[in-house]
Amino acid sequence: MTDKHFTLNDPESGESVQLAVHEPTVGPKVVDVTQLYGEHGVFTFDPGYAATASCESSITYIDGEAGVLMYRGYPIEQLAKQSTFTEVAYLLLHGELPTAAQLDEFDHSIRTHTMINESLLRFFNGFHHNAHPMAMVSGVVASMSAFYHDSTNIHDPHDRDVFAYRIIAKIPTIAAAAYKHSRGQPFVYPQNQLDYCSNLLHMFFAVPSDQYEVDPVAAEALDLLFILHADHEQNCSTSTVRLAGSSGTNPYSAIAAGMSALWGPAHGGANEAVINMLEEIGSADRIGLYVSKAKDRNDPFRLMGFGHRVYKSYDPRATIIRETCHRLLERLGHNDTPLFELALRLEEIALKDEYFVEKNLYPNVDFYSGIIYRALGIPKSMFTVMFAIARCVGWVTHWREMVADPGTRIGRPRQLYVGPTRRDYSPIGSR
Ligand code: CMC
Repeated sequence: MTDKHFTLNDPESGESVQLAVHEPTVGPKVVDVTQLYGEHGVFTFDPGYAATASCESSITYIDGEAGVLMYRGYPIEQLAKQSTFTEVAYLLLHGELPTAAQLDEFDHSIRTHTMINESLLRFFNGFHHNAHPMAMVSGVVASMSAFYHDSTNIHDPHDRDVFAYRIIAKIPTIAAAAYKHSRGQPFVYPQNQLDYCSNLLHMFFAVPSDQYEVDPVAAEALDLLFILHADHEQNCSTSTVRLAGSSGTNPYSAIAAGMSALWGPAHGGANEAVINMLEEIGSADRIGLYVSKAKDRNDPFRLMGFGHRVYKSYDPRATIIRETCHRLLERLGHNDTPLFELALRLEEIALKDEYFVEKNLYPNVDFYSGIIYRALGIPKSMFTVMFAIARCVGWVTHWREMVADPGTRIGRPRQLYVGPTRRDYSPIGSR
């Protein structure tokens, strides 16, 4: 907090209000309205929280105008090029890059917590074979609170660490169990000698009747996507985790709440929706038709994978994925190039269109991620689950930051009430 103030003038009363201003380490200043209602009897109105900082955080920074994303101060481009998902997870959770010994210990802890309780595994038999994997995974993650309720004291830093390691280690196993259930294949147990992404691919694609060798190129591609998805400050799902967690609920339930928020097509569900859209467009000669639909106010269709609440220029994650796509499709020897070419053409046309230029609508992280997931053999319905596995690190990091902050209060927004004023109840017979 500084001694700087922001002054609001109310012309009606002639009163002026001095509001304290918080200085961030980088980014726009933040006007503090916490005393506004108590001292002046007014609320602020900001549906969608487009101009509201809901908390203080030192995890991730985004500059939407400049297309900048940093985890703990490190630019995403450097992490994508030089780091690994496990190291990024350590960085997000602990605030600093690990030494070799710290990374070894962290990696060991994650690798040795990958199994899930057999009872939890049996839950999957209760789901219909064609249940959406996000429904199964969020349901099973919420059920983890039934297994670890008494051992999770959120006020104990050790228990918070155990929770963090457990959920990060087990979420791939739960995702793989959902995938295997939807395929009607037997569950494959985790292999602790494998790294995070190789283990995930093994659990997905190995079958008891055959040898399965993880393709290192596929594991590397997945690792990159996970780095890019690991955190994104106060997005819809992370804010949901914080809001749910602020009541002191079991953290597995808070993560499941965030996962449910992620599923929507405006958020993490967009990667699945992009592929559906590209398949529906089908060929370059139909792009114009879909661009017109996206611009038509009377048509609910939106160009999926385009636009972002914060980025008003190219999403830096999309730049990295786009660059990687060509190389990967070639290295994986995959024949999905036509879909990628279609995506590139769609991007080219949209970026030249006045509507998209005026509204600053650029491709976001989800525009290209589905193409890579497809090339890895992951079905569309699993795309948002893949996003959830990576984002789990961000959710846990934000939850820990919130719980450890002595200033945290239960999340409880106010409203602009526009309903009926007081009226008297009338008995049913006289209505
Ligand atoms: N296609 C066509 N028009 C769009 C699009 C789009 N994809 N996105 C925004 N617009 C228009 C929108 O109609 C509005 O126009 P107007 O000002 O005339 O009413 C204007 O652009 C501003 O859009 P908004 O909906 O007010 O912006 P928002 O910040 O509330 O929504 C968004 C952001 C990401 C939900 C939205 O851009 C969208 O629905 N995009 C498609 C879904 C998508 O790709 N989501 C993934 C987001 S990135 C992954 C993640 O972090 O979750």
